[in-house]
Amino acid sequence: MKEKLQSIKEEALKAIEAADVPEKLNDVRVKFLGKKGELTAVLKGMKEVAPEERPKVGQLVNETRASIEKILEESKAKMERVIREEKMKQEVIDVTLPSKKNMVGHRHPNTIALEEVERIFIGMGYEVVEGPEVEYDLYNFEKLNIPDGHPAKDEQDTFYINKEILLRTQTSPVQARVMEQGKLPIRMIAPGRVFRSDEVDATHSPSFHQIEGLVIDKNISFADLKGTLEVFAKELFGPETKTKFRPHHFPFTEPSAEVDVTCFKCGGKGCRFCKGSGWIEILGCGMVHPHVLEMCGIDPNEYTGFAFGVGLERIALLKYEIDDMRLLYENDIRFLKQF
Ligand code: DAH
Repeated sequence: MKEKLQSIKEEALKAIEAADVPEKLNDVRVKFLGKKGELTAVLKGMKEVAPEERPKVGQLVNETRASIEKILEESKAKMERVIREEKMKQEVIDVTLPSKKNMVGHRHPNTIALEEVERIFIGMGYEVVEGPEVEYDLYNFEKLNIPDGHPAKDEQDTFYINKEILLRTQTSPVQARVMEQGKLPIRMIAPGRVFRSDEVDATHSPSFHQIEGLVIDKNISFADLKGTLEVFAKELFGPETKTKFRPHHFPFTEPSAEVDVTCFKCGGKGCRFCKGSGWIEILGCGMVHPHVLEMCGIDPNEYTGFAFGVGLERIALLKYEIDDMRLLYENDIRFLKQF
């Protein structure tokens, strides 16, 4: 019996030595110490042992079990330690390495200019609204007092989808859309993309941006328009800026004006920037035509208002002294990085 146990032990030790992964150690445990294992088999054979011998044999079996168990545990611990060390070596992190820099993008000059304009008007209590870029002829022209046959509706200037639908040529249709909703008073700006069938050059593009403005309330006068746009010009181009209102014609406003500001480069003396005149044109504006109010469901005897339209690119070009509009659309990082 003693020899039998000795040989079981030796066999187990050999198997433990041969095990190279923890799973194999577990197999050894099952094979020798498990319920159906070899040592258990020995215990089951006790009935053949003489009764007086049994305690001794039992003790021997227990000792053998304990020593196999001990060696198993030690091997397992050693194996796990080796595995852990290996893993640590592989996963080493060099905390002294410089971190990767995130490439932070930045805002396009158009966006910077738009946010500046929005900031100014939001500060005066205006709401920012949006309208569709694909628009009905009805809003883009009809309701703005531009009837069929008007030169502005020429196919040369407008991208028509069909007879009734087109790419808006101005942000002014948003005026009609907001007025029609009937919520008065109105104090809003509407920035957005507009489209005209133009050739690309330093000052033209078939797609550009405008910012529309509209105020409708009781007792709104041309003085309110002048005051508002003066504040706007001073905020945008500096406190020394003066404004000049030149009579003009727009179908949807009466009277209408174009607004010039004193050249912020030379202060009005005349320079290359303002082509020697001292003035720079920045926008169109006027008192909303009573017929337009009527067509949009507002009683012109009760309400009056003013409107204006600014070219966003024009503002960006002026503010950042960019001399070619095409630069704004090419998205050359070296150019964009400068703002
Ligand atoms: N929509 C005009 C244009 O594209 C600009 C404009 C002029 C807008 C006068 C207005 C305005 O609201 O009152 O040329």
